[in-house]
Amino acid sequence: MSRIAYVNGRYVDQRLAEVNIEDRGYQFGDGIYEVVHLHDARFIDEDHHLARLERSLAEIRLPMPMPRAALRHVLAEVARRNRVTEGLLYMQVTRGVARRDHAFPKPPVPPALVITVKRIPPYPASVEGWGAKAITLPDLRWARRDIKSINLLPNCLARQAAREQGAIEAILYEEATGMVTEGAATTFWIVDAGGVIRTRELDHVILPGCTRAALMAEMAQAGLRFEERAFSLEEARGAREAFLTSATSFVKPILALDGHPVGDGQAGPVVRRLFDLFARHVKGAPRNAA
Ligand SMILES: Cc1ncc(COP(=O)(O)O)c(C=O)c1O
Repeated sequence: MSRIAYVNGRYVDQRLAEVNIEDRGYQFGDGIYEVVHLHDARFIDEDHHLARLERSLAEIRLPMPMPRAALRHVLAEVARRNRVTEGLLYMQVTRGVARRDHAFPKPPVPPALVITVKRIPPYPASVEGWGAKAITLPDLRWARRDIKSINLLPNCLARQAAREQGAIEAILYEEATGMVTEGAATTFWIVDAGGVIRTRELDHVILPGCTRAALMAEMAQAGLRFEERAFSLEEARGAREAFLTSATSFVKPILALDGHPVGDGQAGPVVRRLFDLFARHVKGAPRNAA
């Protein structure tokens, strides 16, 4: 079955889908994206993702391409038409098509909206085998990483460097201060040497992860203490446990950093508990509306 994409108001065979070469996303990276996990035909943390999309768009002065409820409907329709119940929905909004000029088109042109879905393996049954290795690299990105911009060149370079070293993620740090920011496409957490669960506080330096927010709500409800407090690369190296969160990695133990084991090199008790907590969150998510 060929894949169906939603492109500017139409559901089209993805092999035939095209964008204009003067689309500002293609020309300038002038756009915003979101990725939503679909499990058992349910959108996980959909409200967080749509709220973040709205916020990112507002930050670059782009309107929502359609109201939230309509967008929700299109997302469900793309999943349905592709018969995907376990997957990742990708949506991208760009500033549309206009003759190439850095400043915004005047008068404004309609934003371009593309939505695709791809299948992924079923949700991992247990944390065993879900752990992975990471490397560390200086963070070379721009100053507004809280905006989910489609400009991902530094992220791509960092991920590629990780892959070439047999790792799945690059953990980024500020060269000037030695403080960790986040992964190339994930939120990074540690259980520090004192046993405190920590991730960086929200600012312009990291993306506000939807999985981060959902996990924090679950932890608060379970009475688990955590701190939103930045940590250094040295603290990460000396951590008892480390893990990633994202819509694609869920809660993923990091067992080694730059080839050195984190703690004893096994998924520790805290990350095991959080993996289970998040699995319950995913499995208990409400059915989507459409
Ligand atoms: C830079 C960055 N940080 C964090 C995340 C995790 O965000 P979420 O949990 O919303 O997937 C992502 C996800 O793509 C990301 O690209």
